Amino acid sequence: MKIPDPVRFLGNYSSGKMGVALAEQFAAEGAQVFLIAGPGTPETTNPSIERSPVTTAASMYDEVLAHYSNSDIVVMAAAVADFTIEKVAAEKIKKSGEGMTLRLVPTKDILKTLGESKEHQFLVGFALETENAEKHARAKLKNKNADLIVFANAADATKGSGFGVDTNKITISDAGGSQQNFAVKPKQQVARDIVNYIAEQVTIR
Ligand code: CTP
Repeated sequence: MKIPDPVRFLGNYSSGKMGVALAEQFAAEGAQVFLIAGPGTPETTNPSIERSPVTTAASMYDEVLAHYSNSDIVVMAAAVADFTIEKVAAEKIKKSGEGMTLRLVPTKDILKTLGESKEHQFLVGFALETENAEKHARAKLKNKNADLIVFANAADATKGSGFGVDTNKITISDAGGSQQNFAVKPKQQVARDIVNYIAEQVTIR
């Protein structure tokens, strides 16, 4: 997310609820949790969760990279913007009666960067797809050198999946080729399924 001018921003429908549910679940399991949260992410209830608020894809990149070497498990549940405004206007953009074009440039792919310099870390990606969900999610797992990907199909939105709702319907695919489908559940229970799946695969130093 990046502002095009001082009074506007580009964003998406992600609520941050899944990330918060995961942070709470990891903390409940005894993990030391650092939550790097984009705008609008709800509060956490567990006081042991450290939190760093970020407002742009670039600041999330910097913050994630700063914590990477000290992390055992990195879960990229954030719906990071793929594009940002090339040039932020210094003042509010006034209308002229004409149309306008905002030029967008790519952001850095945080998960891909982590995958390229992976050492001991276990990397978890997320994907919300609108078509060929399994194919696209598996491609992301491979391209980003992640260990596991959690994906959902936006077409399931009416069945309790997607943005802003308190439930999710996920499938987990791992780098070993295994895959598991889960039923529609509240995000807290989805977080428990994800943490359990990760725990079966990870040996903490
Ligand atoms: N991701 C990231 N940095 C970005 C974009 C995405 O770390 N700049 C992470 C997300 O947090 C998620 C995974 O990459 O864990 C997949 O994100 P998604 O938006 O589904 O995939 P993209 O790689 O952006 O591909 P596309 O938008 O073309 O589907």
